[in-house]
Amino acid sequence: MNQQNGLQYRSLLKAELAEVETRLLEVTSAVPSHIAGMLQEIIDSGGKRLRPALVLLSAHLCQAPLMQAIPIAAAIEMLHTATLVHDDLIDGATLRRGKPTLNAHLSATPTVLAGDLLFARAAVMATEAQNLQLVRRFSATLEIICSGELNQFFIGRGHLPTHDEYERRIFSKTASLFALAMETGPHLAGCPAQQIADLARFGALLGSAFQITDDVLDFVSNEATLGKPVGSDLQQGLVTLPVLVYLQQHPEDTRLASLLRDPADAGQLQGFVTDLHTSGAIAATMAIADRRIEEALTLLEPFPITPYRRAIEEIATFAVRRPY
Ligand code: IPE
Ligand code: IPE
Ligand code: MG
Ligand code: MG
Repeated sequence: MNQQNGLQYRSLLKAELAEVETRLLEVTSAVPSHIAGMLQEIIDSGGKRLRPALVLLSAHLCQAPLMQAIPIAAAIEMLHTATLVHDDLIDGATLRRGKPTLNAHLSATPTVLAGDLLFARAAVMATEAQNLQLVRRFSATLEIICSGELNQFFIGRGHLPTHDEYERRIFSKTASLFALAMETGPHLAGCPAQQIADLARFGALLGSAFQITDDVLDFVSNEATLGKPVGSDLQQGLVTLPVLVYLQQHPEDTRLASLLRDPADAGQLQGFVTDLHTSGAIAATMAIADRRIEEALTLLEPFPITPYRRAIEEIATFAVRRPY
């Protein structure tokens, strides 16, 4: 997948995304040489660039100045990259986008500091659009992401969340940044508050459908594609929507409680994952994600049908149709 996900947004935004790449790579020139090559590898390793693409597409949708949208697009992707650097350290992940993570090369201290450096760089880039309101939204979103990760650290593992807690978790970790990406265009174009709110809502719906799909992929994909074992969220004590949906259908199943107490019981985990597959919980969970995308698409209806609107719709559809 990644570069080859076959979607139109890459060719439609070719020149602008190339400018975003140049700006992202600038970070490597101002860091110790020890780390410059590793950062370059992370940036070059072929992320899908969905968030900067959405910034640029929302700018086109609202006819906002691209000179301002481009630094915000780069800032949001840099913020995303920084969260991944820290997330992989927190999760002990050694592969990301098929390449070794920073924490696979380095100990915790330089990995944390390198992540901090990327956050700092993202903040500098965010100021380049010269829009104080957006800088405030950018910082507030970073606050939401960090407090979500802290919450997940302290209460997320081994805990059975309510549906509301799950929604808050995926908003913090993923949907909040998609919302920020989509509201950039109307902010920069000086659109009415309602339009800003509608596009932010579009981003939040898209982001939550994207994360729900990611949580489903953890159960239905394979180890080679995921770069981690199937069912690894649950193995790490992280309960996601497919499990909540399954429990709603099977409240009598007590295996989850014992799995959360003893996630190392591989046989029990495998049995639970198999039953989850045959229960229909996967399809029911994907139906929830699909409904969010349908609702999100209605928010685009006031906008003229242009290739840019089509590309946003395409990304929204892709979010829930990612290759297994
Ligand atoms: C990964 O995001 C983290 C999640 C929110 C699931 P992406 O799937 O957008 O990651 P890249 O940037 O394309 O690698
Ligand atoms: C990704 O979260 C990090 C953030 C969105 C902050 P996960 O740990 O759930 O995602 P992957 O599976 O590592 O991409
Ligand atoms: Mg992770
Ligand atoms: Mg994580």
